[in-house]
Amino acid sequence: MISKEDGRKSDPIRWHGNGAVRVARDRPSAVHQREVRVGVVGCGYWGAKHVRVLSATPGVAELSLIERDVALCDNMQRVFPGTRAFRSLEAALPHVDAVVIATPPQTHGELALMAVREGKHVLVEKPLVTSLGEAESLVEAARLSDRITMVGHTFQFNPAVRELRRRMVSGELGKIYYIHSARLNLGLYRPDVNVVWDLAPHDVSILNYLLDSRPDSVMAWGASLAFGDVHDLAYLRLEYREPEVTGYAHVSWLDPRKTRTVTVVGSEKMAIYDDLSEDRLRIYDCGLEGHLDGPPLHERPPAYRYGDMIVPYIRPDEPLALQDKHFIDSIRTRTEPETDWMTGLSIVAILEALHQSIREGRPVSVSNSFARSRQANCASMGIS
Ligand SMILES: NC(=O)c1ccc[n+]([C@@H]2O[C@H](COP(=O)([O-])OP(=O)(O)OC[C@H]3O[C@@H](n4cnc5c(N)ncnc54)[C@H](O)[C@@H]3O)[C@@H](O)[C@H]2O)c1
Repeated sequence: MISKEDGRKSDPIRWHGNGAVRVARDRPSAVHQREVRVGVVGCGYWGAKHVRVLSATPGVAELSLIERDVALCDNMQRVFPGTRAFRSLEAALPHVDAVVIATPPQTHGELALMAVREGKHVLVEKPLVTSLGEAESLVEAARLSDRITMVGHTFQFNPAVRELRRRMVSGELGKIYYIHSARLNLGLYRPDVNVVWDLAPHDVSILNYLLDSRPDSVMAWGASLAFGDVHDLAYLRLEYREPEVTGYAHVSWLDPRKTRTVTVVGSEKMAIYDDLSEDRLRIYDCGLEGHLDGPPLHERPPAYRYGDMIVPYIRPDEPLALQDKHFIDSIRTRTEPETDWMTGLSIVAILEALHQSIREGRPVSVSNSFARSRQANCASMGIS
Protein backbone atom coordinates (compact mmCIF):
# COMPACT_ATOMS: atom_id res chain seq x y z
CA MET A 1 0.00 0.00 0.00
CA ILE A 2 1.13 3.59 -0.38
CA SER A 3 3.45 4.65 2.38
CA LYS A 4 2.70 7.91 4.12
CA GLU A 5 5.39 10.32 5.19
CA ASP A 6 6.91 9.03 8.42
CA GLY A 7 8.03 12.58 9.34
CA ARG A 8 10.59 12.63 12.12
CA LYS A 9 9.35 16.11 12.86
CA SER A 10 11.95 17.05 15.39
CA ASP A 11 14.76 16.57 12.84
CA PRO A 12 15.84 19.68 10.98
CA ILE A 13 15.89 17.42 7.93
CA ARG A 14 13.18 14.84 7.39
CA TRP A 15 13.04 12.18 4.75
CA HIS A 16 10.08 12.29 2.49
CA GLY A 17 9.18 10.07 -0.41
CA ASN A 18 10.72 12.43 -2.90
CA GLY A 19 13.87 13.17 -0.94
CA ALA A 20 14.81 15.20 2.08
CA VAL A 21 12.61 18.18 2.80
CA ARG A 22 13.90 21.10 4.77
CA VAL A 23 11.55 21.97 7.58
CA ALA A 24 10.82 25.68 7.52
CA ARG A 25 10.53 25.96 11.25
CA ASP A 26 12.58 29.15 11.35
CA ARG A 27 10.15 30.80 8.97
CA PRO A 28 7.27 32.58 10.60
CA SER A 29 4.23 31.40 8.63
CA ALA A 30 2.17 34.44 9.68
CA VAL A 31 4.48 36.92 7.94
CA HIS A 32 2.93 38.05 4.70
CA GLN A 33 4.54 39.77 1.80
CA ARG A 34 1.69 41.51 0.04
CA GLU A 35 3.12 41.64 -3.44
CA VAL A 36 6.07 40.11 -5.24
CA ARG A 37 8.07 41.53 -8.15
CA VAL A 38 8.81 38.59 -10.43
CA GLY A 39 11.25 38.21 -13.33
CA VAL A 40 11.00 35.40 -15.88
CA VAL A 41 14.45 34.44 -17.16
CA GLY A 42 14.11 33.00 -20.66
CA CYS A 43 10.93 33.87 -22.53
CA GLY A 44 11.03 31.11 -25.16
CA TYR A 45 8.43 28.36 -25.61
CA TRP A 46 7.88 27.59 -21.93
CA GLY A 47 8.96 30.90 -20.37
CA ALA A 48 6.27 32.68 -22.42
CA LYS A 49 3.67 30.46 -20.71
CA HIS A 50 5.05 31.46 -17.30
CA VAL A 51 4.72 35.12 -18.31
CA ARG A 52 1.10 34.54 -19.33
CA VAL A 53 0.08 32.77 -16.11
CA LEU A 54 2.09 35.07 -13.82
CA SER A 55 0.48 38.12 -15.40
CA ALA A 56 -2.81 36.83 -13.94
CA THR A 57 -1.47 35.44 -10.64
CA PRO A 58 -2.67 37.23 -7.49
CA GLY A 59 0.19 38.77 -5.55
CA VAL A 60 2.44 39.47 -8.53
CA ALA A 61 3.16 43.20 -8.37
CA GLU A 62 5.35 43.68 -11.39
CA LEU A 63 6.55 41.31 -14.08
CA SER A 64 9.95 41.57 -15.78
CA LEU A 65 11.01 39.77 -18.95
CA ILE A 66 14.65 38.70 -18.77
CA GLU A 67 15.52 37.53 -22.27
CA ARG A 68 18.67 37.96 -24.29
CA ASP A 69 16.93 37.58 -27.65
CA VAL A 70 15.95 41.20 -28.32
CA ALA A 71 13.35 40.53 -31.02
CA LEU A 72 11.64 37.87 -28.91
CA CYS A 73 11.59 40.18 -25.91
CA ASP A 74 10.13 43.06 -27.94
CA ASN A 75 7.37 40.78 -29.22
CA MET A 76 6.56 39.64 -25.70
CA GLN A 77 6.39 43.23 -24.49
CA ARG A 78 3.86 44.01 -27.20
CA VAL A 79 1.65 41.18 -25.89
CA PHE A 80 2.27 42.08 -22.23
CA PRO A 81 2.65 45.89 -22.29
CA GLY A 82 2.92 46.35 -18.53
CA THR A 83 6.15 44.37 -18.27
CA ARG A 84 9.73 45.63 -17.91
CA ALA A 85 12.50 44.13 -20.04
CA PHE A 86 16.09 43.21 -19.23
CA ARG A 87 18.74 41.47 -21.31
CA SER A 88 20.40 39.65 -18.41
CA LEU A 89 19.65 38.36 -14.93
CA GLU A 90 22.41 40.56 -13.46
CA ALA A 91 20.71 43.70 -14.79
CA ALA A 92 17.29 42.61 -13.50
CA LEU A 93 18.29 41.50 -10.00
CA PRO A 94 17.89 44.90 -8.26
CA HIS A 95 14.35 45.16 -9.63
CA VAL A 96 12.88 41.77 -8.65
CA ASP A 97 12.10 39.81 -5.47
CA ALA A 98 11.74 36.46 -7.23
CA VAL A 99 12.75 34.82 -10.49
CA VAL A 100 11.42 31.96 -12.61
CA ILE A 101 14.22 30.33 -14.59
CA ALA A 102 12.97 28.95 -17.91
CA THR A 103 16.21 28.85 -19.88
CA PRO A 104 17.80 25.68 -21.37
CA PRO A 105 18.62 23.09 -18.65
CA GLN A 106 22.43 23.45 -18.88
CA THR A 107 22.12 27.10 -17.81
CA HIS A 108 19.86 26.52 -14.76
CA GLY A 109 22.62 25.93 -12.20
CA GLU A 110 24.58 29.13 -12.75
CA LEU A 111 21.50 31.36 -12.98
CA ALA A 112 19.77 29.81 -9.96
CA LEU A 113 22.90 30.10 -7.81
CA MET A 114 23.33 33.74 -8.76
CA ALA A 115 19.71 34.53 -7.93
CA VAL A 116 19.54 32.74 -4.58
CA ARG A 117 22.88 34.18 -3.46
CA GLU A 118 21.49 37.64 -4.23
CA GLY A 119 18.58 36.88 -1.88
CA LYS A 120 15.91 36.15 -4.49
CA HIS A 121 13.18 33.53 -4.29
CA VAL A 122 13.76 31.12 -7.18
CA LEU A 123 11.59 28.73 -9.19
CA VAL A 124 13.69 26.66 -11.62
CA GLU A 125 12.10 24.77 -14.50
CA LYS A 126 12.65 21.02 -14.75
CA PRO A 127 15.16 19.46 -14.69
CA LEU A 128 16.56 21.41 -11.73
CA VAL A 129 20.08 21.01 -13.18
CA THR A 130 21.90 18.43 -15.26
CA SER A 131 24.25 16.91 -12.66
CA LEU A 132 23.97 15.77 -9.07
CA GLY A 133 26.99 17.87 -8.05
CA GLU A 134 25.26 21.03 -9.28
CA ALA A 135 22.04 20.01 -7.50
CA GLU A 136 23.96 19.61 -4.24
CA SER A 137 25.45 23.11 -4.66
CA LEU A 138 21.97 24.55 -5.16
CA VAL A 139 20.51 22.75 -2.13
CA GLU A 140 23.40 23.99 0.00
CA ALA A 141 22.94 27.58 -1.24
CA ALA A 142 19.21 27.31 -0.52
CA ARG A 143 19.94 26.08 2.99
CA LEU A 144 22.11 29.12 3.64
CA SER A 145 19.39 31.47 2.46
CA ASP A 146 15.91 31.93 3.86
CA ARG A 147 14.38 32.23 0.41
CA ILE A 148 11.74 30.06 -1.25
CA THR A 149 13.47 27.70 -3.67
CA MET A 150 11.25 25.56 -5.86
CA VAL A 151 11.51 23.33 -8.93
CA GLY A 152 8.90 23.22 -11.69
CA HIS A 153 7.68 19.64 -11.64
CA THR A 154 4.40 20.77 -13.16
CA PHE A 155 2.64 17.40 -13.14
CA GLN A 156 2.66 17.40 -9.38
CA PHE A 157 0.20 20.28 -9.67
CA ASN A 158 -1.90 18.58 -12.31
CA PRO A 159 -5.43 18.04 -10.93
CA ALA A 160 -5.79 14.66 -12.71
CA VAL A 161 -2.50 13.37 -11.26
CA ARG A 162 -3.54 14.58 -7.81
CA GLU A 163 -6.91 12.84 -8.12
CA LEU A 164 -5.19 9.63 -9.23
CA ARG A 165 -2.88 9.77 -6.23
CA ARG A 166 -5.80 10.46 -3.90
CA ARG A 167 -7.49 7.30 -5.14
CA MET A 168 -4.29 5.25 -4.84
CA VAL A 169 -3.66 6.48 -1.29
CA SER A 170 -7.27 5.64 -0.32
CA GLY A 171 -6.62 2.03 -1.39
CA GLU A 172 -9.26 2.11 -4.13
CA LEU A 173 -6.92 0.49 -6.67
CA GLY A 174 -5.69 -2.13 -4.18
CA LYS A 175 -2.10 -3.34 -4.27
CA ILE A 176 -0.29 -1.58 -7.09
CA TYR A 177 1.24 -4.14 -9.49
CA TYR A 178 2.98 -1.73 -11.83
CA ILE A 179 2.83 1.73 -13.39
CA HIS A 180 3.62 2.46 -17.02
CA SER A 181 4.19 5.94 -18.42
CA ALA A 182 4.52 6.88 -22.09
CA ARG A 183 5.69 10.28 -23.33
CA LEU A 184 6.14 10.17 -27.10
CA ASN A 185 6.06 12.63 -29.97
CA LEU A 186 7.88 13.65 -33.12
CA GLY A 187 10.38 16.05 -31.45
CA LEU A 188 10.91 18.48 -30.00
CA TYR A 189 14.65 17.75 -30.22
CA ARG A 190 16.69 19.91 -27.84
CA PRO A 191 20.31 20.82 -28.50
CA ASP A 192 21.57 20.62 -24.92
CA VAL A 193 20.03 17.48 -23.37
CA ASN A 194 18.87 14.05 -24.55
CA VAL A 195 15.35 12.64 -24.40
CA VAL A 196 15.86 11.22 -20.89
CA TRP A 197 16.87 14.57 -19.37
CA ASP A 198 14.17 16.39 -21.33
CA LEU A 199 11.09 14.17 -20.96
CA ALA A 200 11.78 11.68 -18.16
CA PRO A 201 11.78 14.33 -15.37
CA HIS A 202 8.00 14.32 -15.89
CA ASP A 203 7.62 10.52 -15.71
CA VAL A 204 9.95 10.19 -12.73
CA SER A 205 8.27 13.02 -10.83
CA ILE A 206 4.81 11.56 -11.53
CA LEU A 207 5.86 8.07 -10.39
CA ASN A 208 7.58 9.38 -7.25
CA TYR A 209 4.57 11.51 -6.46
CA LEU A 210 2.00 8.77 -7.04
CA LEU A 211 3.95 6.28 -4.92
CA ASP A 212 5.19 8.88 -2.42
CA SER A 213 8.53 7.18 -2.76
CA ARG A 214 11.64 7.08 -4.88
CA PRO A 215 13.24 4.15 -6.70
CA ASP A 216 16.08 2.20 -5.13
CA SER A 217 17.52 1.19 -8.47
CA VAL A 218 16.96 1.86 -12.13
CA MET A 219 17.71 0.21 -15.44
CA ALA A 220 17.50 1.93 -18.80
CA TRP A 221 18.09 1.30 -22.46
CA GLY A 222 18.48 4.11 -24.96
CA ALA A 223 19.04 4.56 -28.67
CA SER A 224 20.58 7.41 -30.66
CA LEU A 225 18.86 7.19 -34.02
CA ALA A 226 18.57 10.49 -35.85
CA PHE A 227 21.36 12.78 -34.57
CA GLY A 228 24.78 11.31 -33.75
CA ASP A 229 25.04 10.25 -30.14
CA VAL A 230 21.96 12.08 -28.82
CA HIS A 231 19.54 9.57 -27.31
CA ASP A 232 16.13 10.14 -28.86
CA LEU A 233 14.43 6.97 -27.60
CA ALA A 234 14.64 5.31 -24.20
CA TYR A 235 12.94 2.63 -22.13
CA LEU A 236 13.26 3.05 -18.38
CA ARG A 237 12.59 0.74 -15.45
CA LEU A 238 12.40 2.07 -11.90
CA GLU A 239 12.36 -0.34 -8.96
CA TYR A 240 10.61 1.01 -5.87
CA ARG A 241 11.07 -0.96 -2.66
CA GLU A 242 8.51 0.76 -0.44
CA PRO A 243 5.90 0.23 -1.75
CA GLU A 244 7.23 -2.64 -3.86
CA VAL A 245 6.26 -1.48 -7.32
CA THR A 246 8.04 -1.40 -10.68
CA GLY A 247 7.57 1.70 -12.77
CA TYR A 248 8.21 1.70 -16.52
CA ALA A 249 8.55 4.66 -18.82
CA HIS A 250 8.89 4.91 -22.58
CA VAL A 251 10.14 8.30 -23.76
CA SER A 252 10.73 9.22 -27.38
CA TRP A 253 11.29 12.19 -29.66
CA LEU A 254 10.85 9.89 -32.64
CA ASP A 255 7.28 8.69 -32.67
CA PRO A 256 4.48 9.57 -35.10
CA ARG A 257 1.79 9.92 -32.43
CA LYS A 258 1.86 12.30 -29.51
CA THR A 259 1.20 10.24 -26.37
CA ARG A 260 1.04 11.33 -22.74
CA THR A 261 -0.35 8.45 -20.68
CA VAL A 262 0.20 6.91 -17.27
CA THR A 263 -1.36 3.49 -16.63
CA VAL A 264 -1.67 2.24 -13.06
CA VAL A 265 -2.53 -1.42 -12.63
CA GLY A 266 -3.79 -2.44 -9.21
CA SER A 267 -5.24 -5.63 -7.77
CA GLU A 268 -8.68 -4.01 -7.36
CA LYS A 269 -8.89 -1.43 -10.11
CA MET A 270 -6.84 0.01 -12.93
CA ALA A 271 -6.49 3.62 -14.05
CA ILE A 272 -5.36 5.50 -17.11
CA TYR A 273 -4.39 9.14 -16.95
CA ASP A 274 -4.28 10.52 -20.47
CA ASP A 275 -3.19 14.14 -20.57
CA LEU A 276 -4.36 14.54 -24.18
CA SER A 277 -7.83 13.11 -23.74
CA GLU A 278 -10.99 14.97 -22.79
CA ASP A 279 -11.47 12.23 -20.17
CA ARG A 280 -8.20 12.90 -18.39
CA LEU A 281 -8.62 10.13 -15.85
CA ARG A 282 -10.44 6.83 -16.28
CA ILE A 283 -10.86 4.32 -13.49
CA TYR A 284 -11.54 0.76 -14.64
CA ASP A 285 -13.26 -1.60 -12.20
CA CYS A 286 -11.69 -4.72 -13.66
CA GLY A 287 -9.05 -7.32 -12.86
CA LEU A 288 -8.50 -10.97 -12.05
CA GLU A 289 -10.62 -12.88 -9.54
CA GLY A 290 -9.17 -15.08 -6.84
CA HIS A 291 -5.87 -15.61 -8.64
CA LEU A 292 -3.61 -14.98 -5.62
CA ASP A 293 -4.90 -17.84 -3.46
CA GLY A 294 -6.30 -19.95 -6.29
CA PRO A 295 -4.80 -23.01 -7.95
CA PRO A 296 -1.84 -22.63 -10.36
CA LEU A 297 -2.63 -21.23 -13.80
CA HIS A 298 -2.09 -24.61 -15.53
CA GLU A 299 -4.78 -26.20 -13.34
CA ARG A 300 -7.51 -23.61 -13.79
CA PRO A 301 -7.75 -20.63 -16.17
CA PRO A 302 -8.04 -17.25 -14.41
CA ALA A 303 -11.42 -15.59 -14.00
CA TYR A 304 -11.56 -12.05 -15.26
CA ARG A 305 -13.68 -9.38 -13.64
CA TYR A 306 -15.13 -6.67 -15.87
CA GLY A 307 -17.02 -3.75 -14.36
CA ASP A 308 -17.76 -0.08 -14.85
CA MET A 309 -15.36 2.48 -16.18
CA ILE A 310 -15.80 5.85 -14.50
CA VAL A 311 -14.47 9.27 -15.44
CA PRO A 312 -14.08 11.42 -12.31
CA TYR A 313 -14.76 15.13 -12.68
CA ILE A 314 -11.44 16.98 -12.79
CA ARG A 315 -11.43 20.76 -12.42
CA PRO A 316 -10.00 22.22 -15.64
CA ASP A 317 -7.35 24.28 -13.81
CA GLU A 318 -4.10 24.81 -15.71
CA PRO A 319 -1.27 22.96 -13.89
CA LEU A 320 1.31 25.68 -14.68
CA ALA A 321 -0.99 28.36 -13.23
CA LEU A 322 -1.46 26.27 -10.06
CA GLN A 323 2.29 25.71 -9.82
CA ASP A 324 3.19 29.38 -10.20
CA LYS A 325 0.45 30.41 -7.78
CA HIS A 326 1.92 27.93 -5.27
CA PHE A 327 5.33 29.60 -5.72
CA ILE A 328 3.92 33.08 -5.14
CA ASP A 329 1.76 31.91 -2.20
CA SER A 330 4.81 30.18 -0.65
CA ILE A 331 6.73 33.47 -0.87
CA ARG A 332 3.88 35.51 0.57
CA THR A 333 3.25 33.14 3.48
CA ARG A 334 6.88 31.99 3.90
CA THR A 335 5.95 28.32 3.71
CA GLU A 336 7.95 25.48 2.23
CA PRO A 337 6.84 24.70 -1.34
CA GLU A 338 5.73 21.18 -2.21
CA THR A 339 8.44 20.75 -4.82
CA ASP A 340 11.54 22.25 -3.23
CA TRP A 341 15.10 21.94 -4.52
CA MET A 342 15.62 18.73 -2.55
CA THR A 343 12.76 17.20 -4.57
CA GLY A 344 14.52 18.45 -7.69
CA LEU A 345 17.81 16.96 -6.49
CA SER A 346 16.22 13.55 -5.94
CA ILE A 347 14.97 13.54 -9.52
CA VAL A 348 18.35 14.67 -10.87
CA ALA A 349 19.95 11.74 -8.97
CA ILE A 350 17.53 9.34 -10.66
CA LEU A 351 18.12 10.86 -14.11
CA GLU A 352 21.87 10.59 -13.60
CA ALA A 353 21.48 6.92 -12.61
CA LEU A 354 19.29 6.27 -15.67
CA HIS A 355 21.92 7.89 -17.89
CA GLN A 356 24.65 5.78 -16.29
CA SER A 357 22.55 2.64 -16.78
CA ILE A 358 22.16 3.38 -20.49
CA ARG A 359 25.92 3.91 -20.82
CA GLU A 360 26.93 0.82 -18.86
CA GLY A 361 24.05 -1.51 -19.75
CA ARG A 362 23.38 -2.58 -16.16
CA PRO A 363 21.07 -1.70 -13.25
CA VAL A 364 22.27 1.26 -11.20
CA SER A 365 21.52 1.86 -7.53
CA VAL A 366 20.03 5.25 -6.75
CA SER A 367 20.16 4.80 -2.97
CA ASN A 368 23.93 5.41 -2.96
CA SER A 369 23.47 8.81 -4.59
CA PHE A 370 20.79 9.75 -2.07
CA ALA A 371 22.91 8.58 0.83
CA ARG A 372 25.84 10.66 -0.42
CA SER A 373 23.69 13.78 -0.82
CA ARG A 374 22.07 13.24 2.54
CA GLN A 375 25.45 12.84 4.20
CA ALA A 376 26.74 16.01 2.54
CA ASN A 377 23.59 17.85 3.57
CA CYS A 378 23.75 16.66 7.16
CA ALA A 379 27.49 17.41 7.38
CA SER A 380 26.91 20.97 6.17
CA MET A 381 24.25 21.34 8.89
CA GLY A 382 26.60 19.98 11.55
CA ILE A 383 24.48 16.82 12.08
CA SER A 384 26.41 13.59 12.49
N1 LIG B 1 7.31 21.92 -17.12
C1 LIG B 1 7.10 21.65 -18.41
O1 LIG B 1 6.13 20.98 -18.78
C2 LIG B 1 8.08 22.16 -19.43
C3 LIG B 1 7.73 22.16 -20.79
C4 LIG B 1 8.66 22.66 -21.70
C5 LIG B 1 9.89 23.13 -21.28
N2 LIG B 1 10.19 23.10 -19.95
C6 LIG B 1 11.51 23.57 -19.46
O2 LIG B 1 11.57 24.98 -19.65
C7 LIG B 1 12.91 25.37 -19.91
C8 LIG B 1 12.96 26.19 -21.20
O3 LIG B 1 12.54 25.39 -22.27
P1 LIG B 1 12.01 26.05 -23.63
O4 LIG B 1 11.45 24.95 -24.44
O5 LIG B 1 11.15 27.23 -23.33
O6 LIG B 1 13.36 26.56 -24.29
P2 LIG B 1 13.53 27.69 -25.41
O7 LIG B 1 14.82 27.41 -26.08
O8 LIG B 1 12.29 27.80 -26.24
O9 LIG B 1 13.65 29.06 -24.57
C9 LIG B 1 14.76 29.38 -23.79
C10 LIG B 1 14.92 30.89 -23.83
O10 LIG B 1 15.91 31.26 -22.87
C11 LIG B 1 16.67 32.34 -23.41
N3 LIG B 1 17.94 32.38 -22.67
C12 LIG B 1 18.89 31.43 -22.63
N4 LIG B 1 19.88 31.80 -21.77
C13 LIG B 1 19.51 33.00 -21.25
C14 LIG B 1 20.10 33.87 -20.29
N5 LIG B 1 21.25 33.58 -19.69
N6 LIG B 1 19.45 35.02 -19.99
C15 LIG B 1 18.26 35.34 -20.59
N7 LIG B 1 17.67 34.55 -21.50
C16 LIG B 1 18.27 33.38 -21.81
C17 LIG B 1 16.81 32.00 -24.87
O11 LIG B 1 17.11 33.17 -25.64
C18 LIG B 1 15.42 31.42 -25.18
O12 LIG B 1 14.53 32.43 -25.62
C19 LIG B 1 13.73 24.07 -19.97
O13 LIG B 1 14.33 23.84 -18.72
C20 LIG B 1 12.67 23.00 -20.23
O14 LIG B 1 13.04 21.73 -19.72
C21 LIG B 1 9.31 22.65 -19.02
